[in-house]
Parts: sequence; C-alpha cells; structure tokens
Amino acid sequence: MQIELTEDQLDTLIDDVQREYGYDFGDYARASLHRRIARLMTVDRFVSFAELRYRINSDKDYLSRLIDMVSVNVTEMFRDPSFYAALRTQIFPVLATYPLIRIWHAGCASGEEVYSMAILLKESKLLDKSIIYATDINPTALSVARAGIYPLAQMQKYSENYVAAGGAEDFSRYYTAQYDMVKMDTALTKRIVYATHNLATDSSFNEFQLIICRNVLIYFNQTLQDRVFHLFDDSLEGLGFIGLGSKESIRFSTVAASYQQVAGKDKIWRKGKK
Ligand SMILES: C[S@@+](CC[C@H](N)C(=O)[O-])C[C@H]1O[C@@H](n2cnc3c(N)ncnc32)[C@H](O)[C@@H]1O
Repeated sequence: MQIELTEDQLDTLIDDVQREYGYDFGDYARASLHRRIARLMTVDRFVSFAELRYRINSDKDYLSRLIDMVSVNVTEMFRDPSFYAALRTQIFPVLATYPLIRIWHAGCASGEEVYSMAILLKESKLLDKSIIYATDINPTALSVARAGIYPLAQMQKYSENYVAAGGAEDFSRYYTAQYDMVKMDTALTKRIVYATHNLATDSSFNEFQLIICRNVLIYFNQTLQDRVFHLFDDSLEGLGFIGLGSKESIRFSTVAASYQQVAGKDKIWRKGKK
C-alpha cells in the first residue's frame, strides 16, 4: 500500500532530522526529496507517517538508512569521458607547475571518480605531489570508496570510458580481480584522504587548486547551490579550477563574476586572481 506523504509532513520530518541530528535537508530540491522519502515509507513498509517519524526520532541507526535513501549515490569511473580528457590536457599542465597539488572531490559517493582522478594523475606523473580529499555526506558510500572494491561486471564499461578519456594503458592494470569483484590498486590510494563532510552545513577545511563536485548540486535548490558555491569560492586558491557535472553551472550563482569557463562544454571554470 502506498502511503501519501503531504508537504506538511515532509516539513515536519526535515525539522525533526535537523533538530535531532543536525542534518539539514531543507534546501534539497523538493520534488526529488519528496519522492525519495515517500519511497522509503513504501519500501520499509511504514503504515503511517507517524510511524516513520517515531522510528527516525527514536532510532539513531535508522538515520543512515534515511541518508542512503535521500542521497543518490549513482556514479561511475570516467563518467563523461571528455571531462577527464579536458582535465588531462587543459588543467593538469597548469597544476603541474605547483609544488603540491590539493584536490577536493566533494560528494564523491563510492569513490569511482576519485580513482579515475588518481589514475589520471599517476599517468601524468603528478600523483606523488598531489593530495586528494574525497568527501561525502554518506558514510556507507565512503566505506565502499575506502575499500576500493567494485563489481567486475562494471569494468568493461569503465575501461571504455577510460579509453574515450584518452587513456592509453590496459585498464586492467589498475585492479586485481577476485571472483566477481575487483580491488583497485593500493598504489592509487596512497594520496587519498576520505572524510565525511556535509555541503549543507559544514565549512571550508583547506585551500585547493582544483575542486570537483559533479552531479551533486542538481539535488539542491538555488539557495543551497549558492551556499555551496560560496564555500567552494572560500576553499579555492586564486586561479584555481572548479569542475561540475554536465547539467550544472556556476553561471547563475552570486560568485559567477569571478569565474571563467575554460573547457567549452566540459563544465570547468577557472577563478580569477584573489
Ligand atoms: C549522484 S552522486 C554523484 C557522485 C559523483 N560525484 C559523480 O558525479 O559520479 C551524489 C552524491 O552527493 C552526495 N551528497 C548529497 N548531499 C550531500 C551533502 N549535503 N554534502 C555532501 N555530499 C552530499 C550523495 O551522498 C552522493 O554520494
């Protein structure tokens, strides 16, 4: 049976989660959030909104289930290959001039894009002087990222993406297959630091030359997108780069005037001098 979730009930739930746990979903894109909470009620067989509310308020462990449902963790390696080709050919030559390269992957999900970055850096001989901070709101996704273990069945697609992004090696050199899973080469992980970070509430924690935040802002409303752009602006060095997803843009944010798009359709912007 499908239980109806009203807008008022959704507001109540958002307030509860904010008050009890400090997670603020108030500025997530409303229709998508509504759909996801309604789906949670169906899948976990709640018979009323009151029951869901009681569960969330009384069972701290159930919060991670809610976060799993609200945060869409779909991702892949070398997603949008031309984006990675642009990083390799247009952005890395600039980063190569720095003694230490600090990169932030915000909303990295289960880590596939972070391994893609590490592979690119390694092939450009930049990995040893890079530090990659990879963050997400979802601790379950981060533990998959840390383990670096993925289904073997996905490797064919990732290998094709890698080649389309200009990769010239045999992609299988970057993992070891065990039964139907693969483990990513630990040489790739040595410069990666994983941590939870909530873009809706947490602040800046370092200065970076490159920030990647792809397919995350599409789940936020304009207010939250603007908060995040200010956070990125505070966290980016002068002349640093921001890479977004194919449907995202910095153009309508209040920091837009300080940025110039550098990679055509590939959604990479460069900040002016500070
Ligand atoms: C669709 S995935 C994108 C993954 C990857 N960046 C990519 O493009 O393939 C969206 C990610 O954003 C994360 N996310 C959602 N809200 C967040 C928040 N407030 N702070 C940090 N990460 C968040 C989700 O947990 C999820 O892992």
